[in-house]
Amino acid sequence: MLSFSFMTTRSVVSGPGSTERIGSLMRQNRCKKVAFITDKQILELGLAQPALDGLKAEGIGVWLYSDVVADPPEQMILDAVEQARAEGVDGVVSVGGGSSLDTAKLIAMLLNTDQPLQEMYGVGLVVGERLPLALAPTTAGTGSEVTPISIVTTGGAEKKGVVSPQLLPDYAVLDADLTLGLPAPVSAATGIDAMVHAIEAYTSKLKKNPVSDCLAKQALSLLGENIRKVCTDGKDREARSNMLLGSMLAGMAFANAPVAAVHALAYPLGGHFHVPHGLSNALVLPYVLEFNMPDARHQYAEIAPLIFPELAGQSPKQIGDAMVENFIALGPDLGMEENLRAVGVNHNNLPTLAEDAMKQTRLLVNNPRDMTYEAALKIYEKAL
Ligand SMILES: NC(=O)c1ccc[n+]([C@@H]2O[C@H](COP(=O)([O-])OP(=O)(O)OC[C@H]3O[C@@H](n4cnc5c(N)ncnc54)[C@H](O)[C@@H]3O)[C@@H](O)[C@H]2O)c1
Ligand SMILES: [Fe+2]
Repeated sequence: MLSFSFMTTRSVVSGPGSTERIGSLMRQNRCKKVAFITDKQILELGLAQPALDGLKAEGIGVWLYSDVVADPPEQMILDAVEQARAEGVDGVVSVGGGSSLDTAKLIAMLLNTDQPLQEMYGVGLVVGERLPLALAPTTAGTGSEVTPISIVTTGGAEKKGVVSPQLLPDYAVLDADLTLGLPAPVSAATGIDAMVHAIEAYTSKLKKNPVSDCLAKQALSLLGENIRKVCTDGKDREARSNMLLGSMLAGMAFANAPVAAVHALAYPLGGHFHVPHGLSNALVLPYVLEFNMPDARHQYAEIAPLIFPELAGQSPKQIGDAMVENFIALGPDLGMEENLRAVGVNHNNLPTLAEDAMKQTRLLVNNPRDMTYEAALKIYEKAL
């Protein structure tokens, strides 16, 4: 009999206006004052307002932290924890992109334990329990609302992950209306990130499992059908809703069947060149797929037609080749940068990128084909 385990966020609340309900959810957890974690842009766009109103209506105090920056740096998180501790908060809420949600997860954990953040990096190393936590994504997305993962930028350039079940929030709160104003380049990048989560979950070497497989397939159908729509008409509510659902399903999938070499090669681009996470993924994706092909062709042939329906019925060889070509074309089609050069990378940078990618052993063990430094370098050369 097949052995596997599967975990996810215990409660998902979805629908228009759902973030207003966060107040009553936190009250059920007996919270009196919560840390509210977001970034300046989200606040200015008014996206946090329904959640703030809901908390106020329940008489719950709020300490607002809106200084989250993309690819959250370690020091920013530690500063926020110190301030939140002084405020005496007993719960954490976040409305925002993956950067805000990841920050909130660690704040909820660090406020309730003496364990230093430095000892949490890695898989399953977090000790203790966190404060009550509700997360509402405004991108579709990282799926962070259903993953036990926070990604932190340490020492300037390296991205490290804290991966522990305690980081799964109590509530994932989905309101696609929060994503209606997401600019096209962010919609494209975050949408491709979600697709990569599903693709890498489906081909994950060690923890591939039937539940993640179902979720990944459904996610790819939703994301494949809607990514172009949200990039051309941002106000298409049905397409937005499908993207948010797809990104959550992909998150549930990769939370249990972890991502691999696409993410390992993408992280150094974020760390060194501040390329947005989804764009970094999009730039290396086709060439990692090509590298993996000898070991993953049949699995790719099972999922590629979900994203690109015109490939249905072709041979695995044809589907694999077309999948690579289609992903090379998709990014620029959606208005994204075409290659690494366009985001400021040059040939001399590639050895450092490949060295850093090889440090992502947590991710590389999940890749269907063993990655080497030489292979990573070649992938970056092709992506240049
Ligand atoms: N925890 C996980 O499982 C996981 C998975 C993948 C990525 N990540 C991490 O998540 C981070 C990336 O998150 P992200 O891609 O969601 O972006 P982000 O949170 O970094 O936000 C990117 C930009 O988009 C803006 N934005 C967000 N929502 C908006 C909206 N609705 N309307 C207008 N602007 C909006 C933000 O203000 C910000 O300027 C990275 O640090 C990445 O490493 C985490
Ligand atoms: Fe990702």
